[in-house]
Amino acid sequence: MSEGFTVAIDGPAAAGKGTVSKAVAAHFGFAHLDTGLLYRAVGAKVLTGVDAIDAALALMPEDLEDDSLRTPEVAQAASKAAVIPQVRAALLDFQRSFAARAGGAVLDGRDIGTVICPEAHVKLFVTASAEVRAQRRYAELAGRGISDSFEQVLADVKARDTRDMERAEAPLRPADDATIIDTSRLTIEQAVAAAVAAIAAVQAS
Ligand code: CDP
Ligand code: CDP
Repeated sequence: MSEGFTVAIDGPAAAGKGTVSKAVAAHFGFAHLDTGLLYRAVGAKVLTGVDAIDAALALMPEDLEDDSLRTPEVAQAASKAAVIPQVRAALLDFQRSFAARAGGAVLDGRDIGTVICPEAHVKLFVTASAEVRAQRRYAELAGRGISDSFEQVLADVKARDTRDMERAEAPLRPADDATIIDTSRLTIEQAVAAAVAAIAAVQAS
């Protein structure tokens, strides 16, 4: 039933896309790709002096497994590289192949429902207020020993929101046919339940 079934999950930083995507993938037995890691891997290379387009063209699957990709510096470098059309183009085929895999796939990012998989079976836009998202990211970073202040994390989140929404190529926005899930007042369990219900409804139709 799930052969070739694609779920697109987009939204701004720290909205809960990854958490929801992982849970949905586990629930339905789909493969999961966090496409933000592609841009983070490019951003990490840029921070070592590599050209962003060269980095995107040379990206290898093992580049995505580095724990150091989850720092605020890499996130900012990722969103700067993500503005460059040739960087996005270099990452397109990998994402589309992943989306088409038999057995179903869930991809989370910024442009999955609008550009990467406009024909996705289910499109979700997971969002929350900037303050709630910054609070979540702040707690997450603190738990990993990264002691940025809440104000710094909020400023970083807002800077990335602006850059991601205002770029000319594949800007962050909900697809016209996306289901919006605002997680500002939802627990993780409630957000996951809303996503599972939206997908189950499409599978049943
Ligand atoms: O993938 P994305 O950046 O959108 O967010 P995430 O990494 O899934 O979630 C960011 C943080 O918020 C994680 O620490 C989640 O556990 C937390 N979270 C939450 O507290 N409540 C939710 N409804 C969703 C996520
Ligand atoms: O985890 P978080 O939501 O904070 O960020 P991420 O999903 O890892 O994405 C890092 C950056 O990569 C974003 O701020 C975007 O600029 C870029 N990105 C993108 O442009 N398109 C995607 N499909 C995924 C990420």
